[in-house]
Amino acid sequence: MALIEIANLQVSFPQGNGHKIAVESVSFTVEAEETFSLIGASGCGKSTVLRVLAGLQRDWHGEVRLFGQAIAPLQRFTGQLRRDVQMVFQDPYASLHPQHKIGRTLGEPLKIHGEKHIPARINEALLQVGLHTAMAERYPHQLSGGQRQRVAIARALLLRPKLLLLDEPTSALDMSVQAEILNLLNHLKREHGMTYLLVSHDGEVIAHMSERAALMENGHIVRHFSRADLQAGEHHSAQG
Ligand SMILES: Nc1ncnc2c1ncn2[C@@H]1O[C@H](COP(=O)(O)OP(=O)(O)OP(=O)(O)O)[C@@H](O)[C@H]1O
Ligand SMILES: [Mg+2]
Repeated sequence: MALIEIANLQVSFPQGNGHKIAVESVSFTVEAEETFSLIGASGCGKSTVLRVLAGLQRDWHGEVRLFGQAIAPLQRFTGQLRRDVQMVFQDPYASLHPQHKIGRTLGEPLKIHGEKHIPARINEALLQVGLHTAMAERYPHQLSGGQRQRVAIARALLLRPKLLLLDEPTSALDMSVQAEILNLLNHLKREHGMTYLLVSHDGEVIAHMSERAALMENGHIVRHFSRADLQAGEHHSAQG
């Protein structure tokens, strides 16, 4: 079953007296348990597509289905849908509340969803991403960049989502930490049978992670890449 089905997605933002089209017409499908990646120059609309799928950008046109179920523009994600789709952002520092200890940040989504055994779930989540449970007592500024991104991933996984939207999840990290996080993501994906939609500007990351990829330009998908294309490095030259 296709987990994501997008047809003719269009997103525009108000600008001056008119509007600016960020996503003009994007269509693609992502199958269950695959990693599909979006690549393309800065400003081509990649994050905007992810934000629509996360329910963060609610003003859009077109057709979107998640898990076979149609999503409507302006629809608030609630219940199972809100649990099933999680997003990891580029900058883990900005996405973690600076005045909240890690334990509180991780506990909050569990509380909102009325989960039980919250301290045990927090510990489990930290261990799952290779962090010591003592990290729960720290503030974000007391963690390294790689540790912060592990916390952001732990938070995204707490509600056991089916679909993870990864927007440049390692671009703020140095090379060795980047490899660790990517391997962790691949391991977690296999373990939990998740589906990933990944954005990265790094051709190596794309080739390492993805079954398929699509190149965006000015709010359109202009080219698709198979696993074989990616292994042959065809996306490198296309991306320029
Ligand atoms: N909230 C917003 N209000 C106005 N314009 C926006 C908003 N969000 C995005 N845009 C514009 O929409 C276009 C697409 O932005 P988007 O963030 O999706 O690009 P991107 O491909 O993710 O780029 P990058 O690689 O730099 O992250 C850009 O021109 C951007 O300025
Ligand atoms: Mg972006």
